[in-house]
Amino acid sequence: MSDPTLLILPGDGIGPEVMAEVRKVIEWTGANGGPRFDVQEDLAGGCAYDAHGTPLTDGTMARALAADAVLLGAVGGPRYDALDFSLKPERALLRLRKEMDLFANLRPAQCFDALKDFSSLKPELVSGLDMMIVRELTSGVYFGEPRGVTGEGDGRVGINTHRYAAPEIARVARAAFDLARRRQGRVCSMEKSNVMEAGILWREVVEEVHRDGYEDVELSHMLADAGGMQIVRAPKQFDVILTDNLFGDMLSDVAAMLTGSLGMLPSASLGAPRENDRPRALYEPVHGSAPDIAGQGKANPIACILSFAMALRYSFDAGEAATRIERAVEAVLADGVRTGDLMQAEGGRPATTAQMGDAIVGKLSGTA
Ligand code: NAD
Ligand code: IPM
Ligand code: MN
Repeated sequence: MSDPTLLILPGDGIGPEVMAEVRKVIEWTGANGGPRFDVQEDLAGGCAYDAHGTPLTDGTMARALAADAVLLGAVGGPRYDALDFSLKPERALLRLRKEMDLFANLRPAQCFDALKDFSSLKPELVSGLDMMIVRELTSGVYFGEPRGVTGEGDGRVGINTHRYAAPEIARVARAAFDLARRRQGRVCSMEKSNVMEAGILWREVVEEVHRDGYEDVELSHMLADAGGMQIVRAPKQFDVILTDNLFGDMLSDVAAMLTGSLGMLPSASLGAPRENDRPRALYEPVHGSAPDIAGQGKANPIACILSFAMALRYSFDAGEAATRIERAVEAVLADGVRTGDLMQAEGGRPATTAQMGDAIVGKLSGTA
């Protein structure tokens, strides 16, 4: 059987820098008993606009649909700010998510023990933290119609539509309940049912799905604003948080900071299983293209490396290989190896992006 295809889209800014380190881990894994991949690479985001005049060509879209999994770095940057909305690098990501139908976005916020002092919260509040945000990714206000800017001058109106259909809520709720069963068995669903009709429907449908086969999982509800407050007040109360596209975007950045740095957090975006049982899937760090540090060897590659580990676990049934990578990351952090984003406190061994990648591969090989 031929090797599964892994399509790499490094993107813009620090994307290519962190992806170079992931490639080292992919090679190590393939050479050491883990899955081997037919690795392909293509352009997405600002770099695709530079080369082809569009942030994502139809050809790249077709390759992504055909790939066994996609691994993306990050897209965007100030150079593209003035572009028409339809040409912006971020459209590449939104098109990939929509056309691959990646409705369940898994964003774990896990605090490595070595980093508990780097959190903006007190160490005892985050030590041992392991929560998972499940964000709906293909609907809601990101995609609802009508949308646009109409009128002129003082008459201009900006319109976006927050819209959810019941089946869209149900399928992401099932994903969250399934995941909770393999964790601590608790789901907290967040919406604004006090002010939004779509929030009322969200709560109703989540309860229906719960009654219909998931009653072994503990379900609670919170209004999303209070949920944000609780994430910062006492994050360890949460196991799985289920929420919509926009609230999930914001709450996952908030949760990211609890773990010390945005440079630490991976994500998986999953669709429905295909004929071969593998879901369509895209893995990417939660962070963006970080234009402020791009090209300086300062980026932390861990979020992207852990995104590859998630790919091993969720797309290729290689949980053991994934755990090995996660342990290597933990060990390197315990040794005090630190990229700039993890250097607020005293101590630590300063590392460039490449040195961090090498240290992780060194741990995997047992030589560091
Ligand atoms: P950002 O995540 O790029 O950066 C926020 C801050 O975190 C910056 O100070 C940055 O230096 C730091 N940071 C982020 N990742 C880091 C890493 N790996 N190592 C060290 N420090 C890191 O968010 P932003 O500045 O709001 O957005 C910049 C661009 O990225 C925008 O064009 C935005 O649309 C885009 N973006 C893309 C994605 C994606 O491709 N998935 C996600 C978020 C933002
Ligand atoms: C994210 C990003 C994206 C989003 C942007 C870049 C389209 O912020 O993945 O969190 O808003 O979903
Ligand atoms: Mn975001």
